[in-house]
Amino acid sequence: MLSRVSIVGAGPAGLALAADLQSHGISALMYSHPDHPQHANRLRDNGRLRVSGVMEGFTDLELTTDMAEIIAFSHIVVLAVPSTGQETVLKELKPFDLRQHTIVAIPGNLFSLTKAAGIKVGNILETNLSPYSCRMDDGKLLVLGRKRRIFIGALHNEVSADFYEDVQRVFPFVELKWCHSVVEVCLSNVNGVFHPLMMLMNAGRIESTAGDFLLYAEGLTRSVANAMQAVDRVRMQIAAAFGFRLRSAVDISNDCYGQRFTDLVDLARHSPPHRSLRSPADMAHRNISEDVPDLLVCWHGLAEKLGIDASPIRAVIVLVEMATGVNYMETGRNMKRLNLENVSRSELVARFGPCLVTHLETRL
Ligand SMILES: NC(=O)c1ccc[n+]([C@@H]2O[C@H](COP(=O)([O-])OP(=O)(O)OC[C@H]3O[C@@H](n4cnc5c(N)ncnc54)[C@H](OP(=O)(O)O)[C@@H]3O)[C@@H](O)[C@H]2O)c1
Repeated sequence: MLSRVSIVGAGPAGLALAADLQSHGISALMYSHPDHPQHANRLRDNGRLRVSGVMEGFTDLELTTDMAEIIAFSHIVVLAVPSTGQETVLKELKPFDLRQHTIVAIPGNLFSLTKAAGIKVGNILETNLSPYSCRMDDGKLLVLGRKRRIFIGALHNEVSADFYEDVQRVFPFVELKWCHSVVEVCLSNVNGVFHPLMMLMNAGRIESTAGDFLLYAEGLTRSVANAMQAVDRVRMQIAAAFGFRLRSAVDISNDCYGQRFTDLVDLARHSPPHRSLRSPADMAHRNISEDVPDLLVCWHGLAEKLGIDASPIRAVIVLVEMATGVNYMETGRNMKRLNLENVSRSELVARFGPCLVTHLETRL
């Protein structure tokens, strides 16, 4: 029975998971990268972590900057860094033999198809989202929402039934919806629908007010929602071409939080985990720097391979590139970086589309 979990990344998502695990009797050891110490330093100064919102209380957390300790502590290693930080972490993991370990990337964003494919690891799992909607607030952890369900998929599906039980214990309170492949998981990360367009279409307001407004409640208005739906339709067409029955962004969000919204604007104004979220202070935020290169660029590449018109997604990427000066098509998770450049359409569908796997089928 799983009793210890290692967590790489000491930001709000990793801290919320660690606090939740400890309250369920599972010990957590957290890794903070030496070049990214801000939260770890605050935690050390405060001694304990104060948690408020949908989770309440104080937690004592163990922190390390030594990856060897993380590997020795548990055979389950959760990566809770933004996907833009996964490569840095990979460099730290590379020297170790991880054949008895499972890495769980929250979220994955096709992490397992990048250079990760080159490390010696038992399995890599990817989720579509972080289980928590959370922020750091003056050194304290504010948990705005805990998802009821998240999507998860494995690079290698040939695993034992016990494996699923172990993985479920890493996410107390969250129902895991097992997907056919990491591609289905990546297409279920609806942050790619929500974040870039909300940022882009509110760029003037973000920059003139330093983000002094509510990103969803005030920034997700009807025309923003219309543009988001155009991107969402392409996402669902890509999924359909693989043979997945993926639901709309609003339905996936409903699934996460047990809600029943039918309209994005209504959700933005009334959903508790969304309506109070403030805007980032500037455009240099992971809503752009993570979700454009590591979601939209890979969705765009998949659509092109499958012969789907991805012009709404391309439009967002091009506008973001014009606004930021960063060539995300080049630097993001394009087909080349995902090692899919020379894979044909039929190979792509055969490799990542629905397949019959005994243990998995019982969970779909
Ligand atoms: N928080 C949420 O509500 C939420 C909701 C949905 C999805 N997510 C996703 O969950 C993931 C983690 O979220 P989070 O809010 O905990 O993120 P975060 O605070 O931005 O980052 C998590 C930790 O990773 C560190 N980090 C950042 N870049 C790194 C790099 N290149 N190498 C090593 N460490 C690095 C950060 O350090 P520094 O801060 O010092 O850079 C921080 O300690 C992200 O992918 C996010 O998009 C979060």
